[in-house]
Amino acid sequence: MAGAGISTPSGIPDFRSPGSGLYSNLQQYDLPYPEAIFELTFFFHNPKPFFALTKELYPGRYRPNITHYFLRLLHDKGLLLRLYTQNIDGLERAGIPASKLVEAHGTFASATCMVCRRSFPGEDFRADVMADRLPRCPVCTGVVKPDVVFFGEPLPERFWLHTVDFPLADLLLVLGTSLEVEPFASLSEAVRSSVPRLLINRDLVGPFVSCPRGRDVAQLGDVVGSVKRLVKLLGWMEEMQDLVQRETEKLDAWGT
Ligand code: APR
Repeated sequence: MAGAGISTPSGIPDFRSPGSGLYSNLQQYDLPYPEAIFELTFFFHNPKPFFALTKELYPGRYRPNITHYFLRLLHDKGLLLRLYTQNIDGLERAGIPASKLVEAHGTFASATCMVCRRSFPGEDFRADVMADRLPRCPVCTGVVKPDVVFFGEPLPERFWLHTVDFPLADLLLVLGTSLEVEPFASLSEAVRSSVPRLLINRDLVGPFVSCPRGRDVAQLGDVVGSVKRLVKLLGWMEEMQDLVQRETEKLDAWGT
């Protein structure tokens, strides 16, 4: 289970860290309250703040960090049952196939017209977003919104894979999330009581505080340092360095 805390080392602010979190830095948008930027009623009233934020977060500007590559390594080693992420930055796609990924709060990779409901590749509207133009449906001229899940919107159908995955899991990793948003947060309690849960986060959160279990482990502090410590304990440091080097060379070649 992953949250915005795994992407802060890539330069993307999380939501709730005091001072640096997105929700502490939205004054310029004149919102009634921070979360309004992800609420449909406000979006229909004024979509500009959301698209101004989208311009900041649009995929392609940031690179995965060691945390993303650790998750990729788990997959390469056949150890990853599924990665459930709340993040919309798409950085988990660094080598984890779509079949293994659940983007529970949606994605910028696709977009939907708010009037005729037609679906489009998100890439079709990159130029509009970067030029501060409201993305418009080429068919009905309605406003097109990236398929990022707003508060009150249904989660993607793939989210319901959790009903099969979590009872099957024999280890749960929770990385870089405050576990404050439902229904995602409750997944942390959906594994069997005998299953170890490892929290890698700056601080203890959610059920790791409110109802801890006997086999919970928390590695607190910066996620990069924590992941490096875990990779070293696992004896995967060399493989990790090779992977990061290969992927970095690929991104350099693509000019990302
Ligand atoms: N190292 C370790 N922990 C970190 C780091 C870091 N470098 N950076 C941030 N964190 C921790 C924070 O301390 C916090 O506990 O990651 C967590 C991030 O929490 P949030 O900012 O609340 O992000 P997230 O849990 O992903 O938010 C969930 O809220 O607004 C909605 O849809 C939005 O998906 C988002 C959801």
